[in-house]
Amino acid sequence: MTGTTNLDGFAVRRPFAEPVVIEANRLFSQHLLIVGQTGSGKSTSAVALLNALMRQNQTGIILDPTGEYAHLPHAVVGKLGDNAFIDFAKLSADQLAEIIGIDDDIVVAMLSAAMTSLRLAYNVLHQETPYVKVGVSWTDYEAQLERLHDFPRPYDIRLLPDQLLEECVQPASDAEADFSLLGQQYDRPRQRQLVPVLAAVRKFLADPTMQRLFRLPRPKRRSEQVHVDTSAKTQYDVVYLLTMFAAMKAQHRFLVIDLSALRSNLKVGKLVVSTLAATLLSIKTNLPHTVPIVLTVDEAHRYLTEAASHVGWVDQDGLSRVAREGRKAGLYLMLMTQSPLDLPSQLLGEFGNLLVHRVTTIDELSKLPIVNDIGKELAQQNVGEATFVGNGFEEPLTVTMVRAGDVQHDTASPVFRD
Ligand SMILES: Nc1ncnc2c1ncn2[C@@H]1O[C@H](COP(=O)(O)OP(=O)(O)OP(=O)(O)O)[C@@H](O)[C@H]1O
Ligand SMILES: [Mg+2]
Repeated sequence: MTGTTNLDGFAVRRPFAEPVVIEANRLFSQHLLIVGQTGSGKSTSAVALLNALMRQNQTGIILDPTGEYAHLPHAVVGKLGDNAFIDFAKLSADQLAEIIGIDDDIVVAMLSAAMTSLRLAYNVLHQETPYVKVGVSWTDYEAQLERLHDFPRPYDIRLLPDQLLEECVQPASDAEADFSLLGQQYDRPRQRQLVPVLAAVRKFLADPTMQRLFRLPRPKRRSEQVHVDTSAKTQYDVVYLLTMFAAMKAQHRFLVIDLSALRSNLKVGKLVVSTLAATLLSIKTNLPHTVPIVLTVDEAHRYLTEAASHVGWVDQDGLSRVAREGRKAGLYLMLMTQSPLDLPSQLLGEFGNLLVHRVTTIDELSKLPIVNDIGKELAQQNVGEATFVGNGFEEPLTVTMVRAGDVQHDTASPVFRD
């Protein structure tokens, strides 16, 4: 959004219904938070703003937890678990551990070591079996590691349970101990301790949702050679989709990453949102001269990881990182949430601008100090009415958001009938 890109057509000023024109930089370059009660019109407003961006051929990417935005015209939809996937080989050990449900630091370290071993087996030794550490010298091992420079490298995740067992090695006892080797024998007690972990890994590998989401090869059965399920439709790597939209003008389309497959698994949902946000940030940081992007996340509070609420860990939460570092990389947030109380203060503080729909409680209003003296007006706003406040606005700008006929998001909720 260099120079001036004026957005229009998304709102009219109240009370006299003059069209509102806002410069995109003024609105987005310090991130925009849309708050308000359920049904107050947040998602509709976001769609109106995204459409205004699209008319100016600016880039919008939506992380859509419910599939609400997947039906919009002009959307390119990557539906996770359907036509889009996250490449498991690009997950870090920490991320994989979190998905599998491993929280013991020692086991996470073993998982990381096992992933490295499997990468050696696949890429350096070109073998289809786990990497056996017993009897391997440190010299050979380090030489092999040197040949594994490029990260991320593919590996055969089906071998993970067996590989974890191979990680449990130790020197021989007493006089025979040879410390120039990775290990001389298996550490049986440690292997036994791993049993619950192995069960969790196997459960993950066998879970059909996880298989589709992360494009896991099916676990190998005896005398079976199946790799990835090829009967499924073409799947795009989400990182590829993000990179495409980050690298060039969007051709009047926006990208919707539909996360509805994760609706029943909030823990993985959070991790995926965090990972995608961090990935987009790193793409943008490495492509500094590319187009500005507005990253939109609805129901954002549900998808913040625990790290977002801890001062020392904030950087481990992808959305929080974008809030802190995105501006310099041209990555701007538009988050929606029902209550300002839902967001940790440190994140709330990163938003230079707010679009406030109806907010009624004193507690909520007090979290929004910039709107203190118009609290009463905010509490009386009708559906679709909202007020822009923040650094981009010398004084509050109260508007009625314009819902265009052909751009309705899919918000239908069941209604009571006779
Ligand atoms: N500006 C508007 N003009 C006309 N109708 C609107 C407007 N904004 C919202 N509505 C209608 O109000 C209803 C609720 O809107 P919306 O789904 O955007 O609310 P929301 O704040 O996102 O709610 P939730 O927090 O539950 O997701 C929808 O049926 C929508 O069509
Ligand atoms: Mg909504």
